[in-house]
Parts: sequence; structure tokens; C-alpha cells
Amino acid sequence: MGIVKNICCIGAGYVGGPTMAVIAHKCPHIKVTIVDLNAERIAAWNDEDVNNIPIYEPGLSEVVQSARGKNLFFSTDVEKAIDEADMIFISVNTPTKTYGLGKGMAADLKYIELCARQIAAVAKTGKIVVEKSTLPVRTAEAIKNILDNTGNGAKFQILSNPEFLAEGTAVEDLLHPDRVLIGGDTDAEGKKAIDALVEVYSNWVPEEKILTTNVWSSELSKLTANAFLAQRVSSINAMSELCERTGADVNEVARAIGMDSRIGSKFLKASVGFGGSCFQKDILNLVYIAKSYGLNQVADYWEQVVIMNDHQKQRFAANIVKTLYNTVSDKKIAFLGWAFKKDTNDTRESAAIYVADELLNEQANIAVYDPKVESDVVYRDLNYLDTRSAEQNKLGVSISDDPYTVCKDAHAIAVLTEWDEFKAYDWQKIYDNMKKPAFVFDGRNILDGDKMKDIGFIFQQIGK
Ligand code: UDX
Ligand code: ADP
Repeated sequence: MGIVKNICCIGAGYVGGPTMAVIAHKCPHIKVTIVDLNAERIAAWNDEDVNNIPIYEPGLSEVVQSARGKNLFFSTDVEKAIDEADMIFISVNTPTKTYGLGKGMAADLKYIELCARQIAAVAKTGKIVVEKSTLPVRTAEAIKNILDNTGNGAKFQILSNPEFLAEGTAVEDLLHPDRVLIGGDTDAEGKKAIDALVEVYSNWVPEEKILTTNVWSSELSKLTANAFLAQRVSSINAMSELCERTGADVNEVARAIGMDSRIGSKFLKASVGFGGSCFQKDILNLVYIAKSYGLNQVADYWEQVVIMNDHQKQRFAANIVKTLYNTVSDKKIAFLGWAFKKDTNDTRESAAIYVADELLNEQANIAVYDPKVESDVVYRDLNYLDTRSAEQNKLGVSISDDPYTVCKDAHAIAVLTEWDEFKAYDWQKIYDNMKKPAFVFDGRNILDGDKMKDIGFIFQQIGK
């Protein structure tokens, strides 16, 4: 297994797409093929107009454009790509289980297992298989068992190479990572496989930033990193509630503690709650693993991060109801933002979904504007909750691609995503067209409170 010349990536999603595009861009001598079962998604990646690729990430279409058709290919022919590759990345989704043992906690590995079986069935020559999805600790072992016991006798090396990119800054994070982590077997063959992947990254990442560990450390590091990051958000959100009661200002507290170099200033923004496909899933997974080893105190400790996050979303919605004189029935509430953070069209686990759900339970009418989220995604997210029928969601929620229309005649506005464009709106015009008194609940603390109050809004922010 010498120098890697041909890479295949299974899964053309938020992780596989950007990661492989950057590898292809930085390694013109490597052929990179991304495959996916979802033909529609592959067609979108191949769209002649590179602005129509299925994932919105600043800078991504330029990177795709630079390599697509040269050494970067998108295809639905999974078997051919597996057959040709010397290194295979698995970047399929690993959602939380919705059924059976570990329901609501453990990661559902059915897509991973399917990939492993497919690789085993197709591969005729030895390959390096790289776990790229967030996986529970010891998944590599399961993949190895399937490969070794169902294959055609080909030899496989399994590496864990967790992804640390954050959505919205994926390209930047991939181009200039804080570190790249590669876990593999500690024997000679394992080391060779690790070296092969190190070589790929060293085309653009300084060697001192490429860490190598054993497989289990690598897998657990990913869960630990996300648990620590989410914990910071829940910690500052816990303080935000106390700030609201005591008259302290959470932004001032965050600044004061962030200047302590031991604490650091990042990831201390109080918000309506964290979302995204990773934080909650990874923590629940950690909790499940801890419980399965009987480590109940460890499990409870981390579970509290998720409990706090649920509380934050719930209390944001409850505060809207309480402030609007204890009823939002038939009142129009405008939602600015639906994505789980700015600069992405991803809505997985977005706080907006849960806030909307609570307000719909109170019979509010919700109008949504998000610069990058398509309207069918909003309905899909709500229908997925299964709280009410698709017809009821259609009746209760309207969507527009114009923020001024969404806010017109609204009783209140809730800011759910921190999109920069919200700051530049003509807020006087929005105020003039709203029902009075006009309320704004800034769940991201991005708007200028003094300015909003001068206009006449009754204005509230998290933690103030
Ligand atoms: C995260 C990790 O950062 C990344 O390393 C990992 O690979 C995947 O999971 P992502 O979910 O894309 O990335 O976004 P992130 O920037 O971490 O934000 C997660 C959520 O926390 C968002 O909803 C964000 O709005 C929220 N958040 C973040 C806060 O509420 N306050 C903060 O200070 C930071
Ligand atoms: P992530 O955020 O982890 O990248 P996504 O859901 O965006 O998750 O992407 C995962 C992709 O993996 C989806 O497009 C899905 O169709 C694809 N996928 C899942 N299982 C397989 C499989 N066995 N073969 C090919 N593609 C798969």
C-alpha cells in the first residue's frame, strides 16, 4: 500500500462533499470519486452551474469548480469506485437510533454496516478504509470484522480520521485545520496505512499538526471534542438564565471570563440553544457508551449538557408566550432564520424547529424567512417531529423569501439564526408594518438593543 493515487468516498453529504473537494483541490495527482446512493444529490453535485451544488458553504463552489471533471468526480456507481480505489473514506450519516435497543441515544450504524458489506463484496485487492463519520468508540473493530469475514480474502486496514470541520466555515477549516487526527493499528501494517493518509494531508497541512494515535483514542477524541464544545454553550446558556434574573449581562460575563487564557474566548455565545447534526448526537452517544460500561455518574454528567440545551429552547418559546400576554393563539410570529447557525443551509436539530413546535402547540401562526433554507425543508423538519399532521403544519406555518413580508403584521419577531444580513435590515420599516406593541426576541444576541428600543420595539435578548 504505497502512495495513494485513487480515493473513493462513500457519502456525498456535509462531511464527504467538502472534505473530498478540498483533498482533490490540494492533491491534483490523486483521483477522488465521491459516490452516493442518492442520485438526485449526485446530479446536483454534477450540475453544470456550480452554484447549484447541494450544500451551501462559503468558498465551496469555487473549490469544487477548480477540480471537478479533472480529478474530482461525483457518481452513483458505488461498486466501480470501490473497486478502483486504494483508499476508501466512509462518510455516511450515523443518526441517533430511533428504534430498538439504545433508541434515542446510541448511533444507528446500519448505513456504516451496509458500506462495510459493500466494500467487502466488491474489493479484490487490499484497501485502506477510513472512518470519517462520527462513530461510537470501537466501530472500527466492527467494520474490520465484517471486512475480514465476508470479503474475498483481500487485506484491509482501518483508520479513524474524525472530521472537525464546522459547517459554515468548512472550507476554511479544511484548508487550515487546527489539527488532523489519524488513528490506526499500532503494528507495522497499521503504521504503513497511517503513513499513507498522513502523506495525503501533508500536501497542505504542516506535519506538526497531523496527530497519530491508536484507533480508540482517535474515535473517542472526536466525541470528547464535541462534548466539550457543547458543554461550553450549555454552560454559558445556564448562566444566561441567571443573568436575566440578577441584572447581569451575559455578554459582559462571557467577555470577562473569556479573557482568562485558561478559559479562552471562543464558544461562549449565549443562544437559544445549540443545534446541528453532531453535538446532541455525539453526547447522547457518549452517555450511552458510559452507561453501557456502568459509569452512571459519567453518563449523568454529560447528559446534563443536553438537558440544559432542551431547557434553553423551551424557555425561549415559553418567554415569548408569557411576554405576549400569555397567549399567542392566532398571533403571527415571524421567524428570522431556520438554519442551526449562519452560513449553512443545514437545519438538522436547529433550535428553530423546537421553538416553532412549542409555539404551534400554543396555536400561533408562524412565518419563516431564511436566506438559504428551502421551504420544503421547513415542513419536512416539522413533519418529522410527528407532533401534528402535515396538513396542520402547512396551515400553521408560512414561508417567504422576503423578510419584510414575513414580518408584516406580525405581533413578534424571533431571531433564531445569526445571519449577518439581519443586522442590515431597515428595522424602522419593519416596525411600521408590525402589529403594536411590536416585540423582538433576539435568540442570537446580534441586534443593537439601544437602536431597536429607540425605534419603539419591545426588545429582549438572551441573558440580559
Ligand atoms: C461542530 C463542531 O464544531 C465540529 O468541530 C464538528 O466536526 C461538528 O460539530 P457544527 O455543528 O457544524 O460543528 O457547528 P458549531 O459551530 O460547532 O455550532 C454548533 C451549534 O452551537 C450551533 O447551533 C451554534 O449556533 C451553537 N453555538 C456555537 C452557540 O450557541 N454558541 C457558541 O458560542 C457557539
Ligand atoms: P454528514 O453530515 O455526516 O455528511 P449527510 O446526511 O449530509 O451526513 O450525508 C451522508 C450521505 O451518505 C447521504 O447523502 C446518504 O445518501 C449517503 N449514504 C448513506 N449510506 C450510503 C451507502 N451505503 N452508499 C452510498 N451512500 C450512502
